[in-house]
Amino acid sequence: MTTTPSPRTARAAVAPGGLPVLGHAWQLHARPLEFLSSLPAHGDLVRIGMGPAQAYVVCHPDAAHQMLTDSRTFDKGGPFFDKARVLFGSSLPMAGWREHRWQRRQMQPAFQADRIQGYARVMGEEIDRMTARWRPGTRLDVSESLTNLTLRIVTRSVLAAEAEDSAVAEVQESLHLVIDGIYQRVMLPLGPLYRLPTAGNRRYRRACTRLHRAIDGIIAERRARPEGDDLVSMLLAAHDDDTGEPMSDKDVRDQLMVMIGAGFETTANTLSFAFWLLSQHPEAEKRVQAEVDGTLAGRTATPADLDQLPYTQRVISEVLRMYPPGWFFTRVTTTDTTLAGHPLPAGTALLYSAYLLQHRPDLFPDPERFDPDRWLPPSDDNVPRGAHVPFGGGNRKCIGDQFALIEMAMALATVSSRWSLRPDPDATLRIQARGTLGPGRLMMTCRPRATPPK
Ligand code: HEM
Repeated sequence: MTTTPSPRTARAAVAPGGLPVLGHAWQLHARPLEFLSSLPAHGDLVRIGMGPAQAYVVCHPDAAHQMLTDSRTFDKGGPFFDKARVLFGSSLPMAGWREHRWQRRQMQPAFQADRIQGYARVMGEEIDRMTARWRPGTRLDVSESLTNLTLRIVTRSVLAAEAEDSAVAEVQESLHLVIDGIYQRVMLPLGPLYRLPTAGNRRYRRACTRLHRAIDGIIAERRARPEGDDLVSMLLAAHDDDTGEPMSDKDVRDQLMVMIGAGFETTANTLSFAFWLLSQHPEAEKRVQAEVDGTLAGRTATPADLDQLPYTQRVISEVLRMYPPGWFFTRVTTTDTTLAGHPLPAGTALLYSAYLLQHRPDLFPDPERFDPDRWLPPSDDNVPRGAHVPFGGGNRKCIGDQFALIEMAMALATVSSRWSLRPDPDATLRIQARGTLGPGRLMMTCRPRATPPK
């Protein structure tokens, strides 16, 4: 499909348009996707200013691969990241490489293949629950419905909680505010201004408190039922290899908060974009429908069906390429090193963006075109390492990648076998690049498919 750009062209440059004091923070805030996509034209490592801080944006897939697979040299951290750490502590995505290895070992069993089969039953139940509420002609915000769906799935399956509607609404509402608040504080580093008693700051702090309270409720509930073998029980039973200390309640809360935070908006956004793109590409929609009609005939998809749904899976790969929900992340160098031929001292902040890499026209020709067949074998083998990284890479790769891929394929297939979602005639996509990349509000009308639901 593509060729890797020669690493010999690697060079560091400074992004144009930086402002005194703010640097490029304003561009990254006001038109982030356009700004990021413009950077590869300037070099393979491009320096930007984020307020007083500087960071290099990794624009070359080889450099992205090197950075992702050497997590000891390119560790989590950096000026943007430290702000999120205030909220999420030293949880899995935030932990430095040394602590991360131990934490990941504790949690990995909850994401092994045999566990995911169990979660798939919950996924199926929740997908059925959502579609059973729809009626012919129902007009709904698809993003909201899918966010409810994926939040119920992640709380029920990973946290082994029943997720009563009021608790789901509480976590969901506060999480949105918290994620937005973190995003704003990272992108517009206005320091003490965030401590002023403005309505926005008070809303953010209240949301943090409510979120903590909701998660503490889940921990208390699990402590009362200590025999469980779910993720919460694993965390409550974990002991540090060196010290033998268990995780504190706060550590467990931090882990659960990020797991919920990372595990629902990402999948909901990808599914929302998928339904939007299918509604705009009738040929692709027909192919999905033909495939699911042949395999499911209206019944709920299971993981065993997924091999029979290759086109549906290619749609998901293409949506993740066009609109990766995790659209940028940071790293910091722990030692003097070289990246893309450019020397970087210890403490250098780096930023990588799946959106940027996956929209390079030399890697993905005509990158704005929705073309699931880009992923037809063997062309998917030709994608250079580090070029398609919606789940990141190396040992910091998303722990929930298989969970998410199965959940999204089951939801896309099951919904498509029962309903066709039609957008309002004058609807346009308004992409929101905030804490995650999402489609915002997406009003669509449910039309029943000819295949009777089973
Ligand atoms: C479409 C869905 C998803 C996408 C695109 C996605 C993307 C990512 C990416 C890019 C990273 C690596 C970040 C970095 O390099 O700094 C990551 C890490 C992580 N993700 Fe996901 N994610 C998704 C779903 C999930 C789900 C469903 C869960 C949990 C149920 C989850 C939990 C996590 C956690 C805990 C980490 C940190 C892993 C570590 O540092 O070891 N994600 N995700």
